[in-house]
Amino acid sequence: MTMVVGADSATRVARLFHLLWHGERIARDTAARQALICNDVKARRFFAMQSAQESLHAALFHAAATVLAPRARPLQTPAITALGVYRRHLDRDLATGHLAGTIIGLQIVLEGLGALTLSRMNLALSQHGPRFAPFKRLLEQQEDSHHAFGCRWLERQSIASVPALAADTREYFELACSVIDGGEDLFGYGISTPQCYVTQLRTTLPAALMQGSR
Ligand SMILES: [Fe+2]
Ligand SMILES: [Fe+2]
Repeated sequence: MTMVVGADSATRVARLFHLLWHGERIARDTAARQALICNDVKARRFFAMQSAQESLHAALFHAAATVLAPRARPLQTPAITALGVYRRHLDRDLATGHLAGTIIGLQIVLEGLGALTLSRMNLALSQHGPRFAPFKRLLEQQEDSHHAFGCRWLERQSIASVPALAADTREYFELACSVIDGGEDLFGYGISTPQCYVTQLRTTLPAALMQGSR
């Protein structure tokens, strides 16, 4: 199924871009802090680069939301509140130096949710679509590389660490599900359901880490 963007209400699309803006800022700030708590030089470089890219993404979505809702329409939604809880969970792992938890939370789960959201946008159905299409392609390429980093990192972890990583994954997955549940009015659920969205998110995540999740 494809999410319908812009065919009905500019405000509704602006809310989606506003939500993505929040997500990009979480990614920007988290990646910057990952660079500070990571000992590996190459990984630190990647985190710094990712943070710079997320900063650009945040600026793009902020501009897009402003274009679509220039008259300060209310853009706050339950999904943004749920994203705030997600951020606090990442902050907790960052504060305790739990780098593995932050990679699960950002590069694996949140990037999976972001990639899914981008893939379900159908900009061709929006009168503003042509303006956003080149940016959407750029974002997809960069988000893919962020998610791929997380998957490569995971492959290098020991078998013994899998149960703890799976527990982290379950926590972040449940928080991501709360974002989806809170975004029901954003995602065009007239043509699908939150459970459909959750099922698709699950397919973006490593199967070994998802046993026991809903
Ligand atoms: Fe991003
Ligand atoms: Fe990203």
